[in-house]
Amino acid sequence: MGDSSAKVELGGKASEYKILSGSVGPDVIDIRKLYGNTGAFTYDPGFTSTASCESKITFIDGDQGVLLHRGYPIDQLAEQSNFMELSYLLLNGELPSKAELEKFSGTITRHTMVHEQLAQFYRGFRRDAHPMAVMCGVVGALSAFYHDSTDIADPHQRLVASHRLIAKIPTIAAMAYKYSVGQPFVYPKNNLSYTGNFLNMTFSVPAEEYEIDPVVEAAMDKIFILHADHEQNASTSTVRLAGSSGANPFACIAAGIACLWGPAHGGANEAALNMLREIGHIDRIPEYIARAKNKDDPFRLMGFGHRVYKNYDPRAKVLGKAATEVLAKLGKNDPILDVARKLEEIALTDPYFVEKKLYPNVDFYSGVILSAIGFPTTMFTVLFALARTVGWVAQWNEMIADPEQKIGRPRQLYTGHTQRDYVPLTQR
Ligand code: SDX
Repeated sequence: MGDSSAKVELGGKASEYKILSGSVGPDVIDIRKLYGNTGAFTYDPGFTSTASCESKITFIDGDQGVLLHRGYPIDQLAEQSNFMELSYLLLNGELPSKAELEKFSGTITRHTMVHEQLAQFYRGFRRDAHPMAVMCGVVGALSAFYHDSTDIADPHQRLVASHRLIAKIPTIAAMAYKYSVGQPFVYPKNNLSYTGNFLNMTFSVPAEEYEIDPVVEAAMDKIFILHADHEQNASTSTVRLAGSSGANPFACIAAGIACLWGPAHGGANEAALNMLREIGHIDRIPEYIARAKNKDDPFRLMGFGHRVYKNYDPRAKVLGKAATEVLAKLGKNDPILDVARKLEEIALTDPYFVEKKLYPNVDFYSGVILSAIGFPTTMFTVLFALARTVGWVAQWNEMIADPEQKIGRPRQLYTGHTQRDYVPLTQR
């Protein structure tokens, strides 16, 4: 933009607002004094033009399809890093040394067990409860068990709560799955990797040994990397808003899980696979493309489109490639992948999708891989929440430490009744 300030003329009065520049990406107009100067609010439903905070964690260039975590491109991290190392990077800002990574990983490992009484919470749910409903309830209950890490003014308690959340979310997620299939809970094993431990807690049974397939472990870890953080998306903004009131971190993450569940957000991975299964065959794709374009039909292509990416979601590129590789390595041939590929091909040449810059997003291919690994579709958003917990925790810590942050309290454009007198029932 180049200008150092933006001028506003309102009601015959002029006022000026500083332009702030980041290290990369759009400038921002600092409008914090706008209401005081003009008596007017800005109006931005859905926050399409609003920066809610300053952050150093994740940068997205939607036009170029770029995603950086602390400056490192997501495709390099997905190919060369692992989820534990990325977790350290998101929380601390730099890649760890070997010793730092071993210490961090060891700390997380020792927090993976949950309070034994937490298991009682699961028994209150019906067995067919959606696992995301269970996650909302159980994670929200954590503050009842870990009161010694809920004082957000104490940096040490913030650190312990952060480690507990990152460490326990796979255990809680695996328990949600086990409960849904009527199998016994499996305890964490400290000799396994973060992702290997999750797979063991999910798929092993006491009756026999469980071999962790390295192909599956690598695919799962890559999926966790690709879902770890994503700037100020709806669920991260929910976590920040909850945290701005001083709510404890466990309650904030439970709020993020609730928001992520929506089909417009993290729930889209479950909806996308269900949609692909409903389409079933490439011959039926034109019918669904037509429905997606029909304004009178609420149907949308799930896993397509994005508020920020007006280019191909870089995570979808990695997942699209991984889907072919993982299914081949597992010897699985899922016709749904052919439907997904054909749907993408048709949509990307259709003027409607081209004009609106609608591309596959992170949720379009992830379900094909998760299904091949053996997860039911109802677990897909749970896995998204598992991975995103480290991003939420990193963003929450950044918000708490930000001296500019205060309780989030948006205003409104009021279009309801102006003041009127109460009418007694006998006169109505
Ligand atoms: C995630 O924010 C994040 O970063 C989220 C996320 C993360 O990592 O945290 O990336 C994860 O949530 C990915 C998105 C998953 N959601 C879906 O796949 C659901 C399907 N997609 C859409 O519902 C939609 O694209 C959104 C919600 C993702 C984005 O919606 P926007 O930015 O509010 O855009 P919009 O609804 O205003 O759509 C713009 C136009 C509209 O047409 P017009 O009214 O302008 O004529 O594009 C159309 C929409 O109807 N459109 C679609 C479409 N998505 C948008 N039409 C058909 N199919 C779609 N999928």
